[in-house]
Amino acid sequence: MTEKLIIFDTTLRDGEQSPGASMTRDEKLRIARQLERLKVDVIEAGFAASSNGDFECVKAIAEVVKDSIICSLARANDRDISRAAEALKPANSGRLHLFLATSPLHMEKKLRMTPDQVFEQAKLSVRFARNLMADIEFSPEDAYRSDPDFLCRVIEAVISEGATTINVPDTVGYAIPELYGNFIKNLRERIPNSDKAIWSVHCHNDLGMAVANSLAGVKIGGARQVECTINGLGERAGNCSLEEVVMAVKTRKDYFDLDVGIDTQHILAASRLVSQTTGFVVQPNKAVVGANAFAHASGIHQDGVLKARDTYEIMRAEDVGWSANKIVMGKLSGRNAFKLRLQELGIAMESEADINNAFIKFKDLADRKSEIFDEDILALVSDESVTHDNEQYGFVSLSQHSETGERPQARVVFTVDGKEVKSESDGNGPVDASLKAIESHVKSGAEMVLYSVNAISGSTESQGEVTVRLQNSGRVVNGVGADPDIVVASAKAYLSALNKLQSKADRVAAQG
Ligand code: KIV
Ligand code: ZN
Repeated sequence: MTEKLIIFDTTLRDGEQSPGASMTRDEKLRIARQLERLKVDVIEAGFAASSNGDFECVKAIAEVVKDSIICSLARANDRDISRAAEALKPANSGRLHLFLATSPLHMEKKLRMTPDQVFEQAKLSVRFARNLMADIEFSPEDAYRSDPDFLCRVIEAVISEGATTINVPDTVGYAIPELYGNFIKNLRERIPNSDKAIWSVHCHNDLGMAVANSLAGVKIGGARQVECTINGLGERAGNCSLEEVVMAVKTRKDYFDLDVGIDTQHILAASRLVSQTTGFVVQPNKAVVGANAFAHASGIHQDGVLKARDTYEIMRAEDVGWSANKIVMGKLSGRNAFKLRLQELGIAMESEADINNAFIKFKDLADRKSEIFDEDILALVSDESVTHDNEQYGFVSLSQHSETGERPQARVVFTVDGKEVKSESDGNGPVDASLKAIESHVKSGAEMVLYSVNAISGSTESQGEVTVRLQNSGRVVNGVGADPDIVVASAKAYLSALNKLQSKADRVAAQG
């Protein structure tokens, strides 16, 4: 029988550690539901002990997602572990994921602990966790830069204490595929009880090799779990990308000979949802989910694909959710058709009121834009004003005047805690004037560290999707806004970033 490769998604934990990618509870719930639709085996829903907000998110996901194992990260101490176990109580199947650094550098400089102390703590923490839950994953953080002899000692001990999954993180993305694969193979061969646990890979992308390293860990090392994120989201250069690793194993089944349970038709919707929620735009030439991933520009290629698609295509676009950019809806579409399309796109709204709210926005958009694509619907439901009536700032309207040779002027109407305010400013351009108008009232003092505009569906008729990244007192957030008018989209993105700055609680960050 073919063995299974377990897909462990950490978009909501490691992915969220990217600067500005922090998500609200509702956003995390929406992504978790999409991951469940994808049939991800394990969802790492957060790091429950890092903040009350994270605790609530893990708990909320454990309450609603029933088909995937729900996991919480925890440092290897009793308090973190108890907190994680508490958050996971509502889960059908829960997993505690304990981590403790084992590399000389991390032990000495970060933990200020001796190897013997780390060994003891690893052992005792797994013993403690095992009394609370049966499914225990242990990660020796920075494993790839750890001394293999010491690592063997620690891993053998934690397996004896009941760890059921052993993860081997390349925390800083330093590994090379062949070396990483052999590193895991060697550990498995040397540790007497290694067959009592499932081995897992967790690779960061600092040298652009996270997917290659993960696959080598599977092929050479015999790992049977891959930790990954949608779009490769993650700190610094990111994590191993779920869509790439899954499609590699599926497309090259002849080589890997492993089964993957992922329902790949939901990949694109998951990619768009994560990109629109976090403001991390997917590059056009990104494998599997980039806008050009299945586009053939050269005449020779187009001709070949028309004659026989496998001349230049190794995967079918439909298999990962591409639907040839078809027009899905228009102004005559009714509420039921809209609701059905939301379901098909994997968007589960919390209440009928949210659906009504989204439908009103949809009608409004359809009045201004004759063709509505899936991308428009995804952008619309990511728009905070659809699902978040309780945000501090909300967009109402905007007017601006710009003319060659004149300094642009803008007037923005928005709500602050439900009360409408009007604010005006000039600026270098209409976008600058609009954002200055908002800032002159709000006085957040935040620094803008990124502004980007992207056409959602490729033509000038398209909605513009704007990402604004703000930084204030060491906190970084991304706001996203979409509208056919890019000045309005910019104002929405700015207000969304202000809301996130407002709500982002300080938390303890996991390393890596
Ligand atoms: O990269 C890493 O080491 C991690 C661990 C916390 C698993 O994310
Ligand atoms: Zn990591």
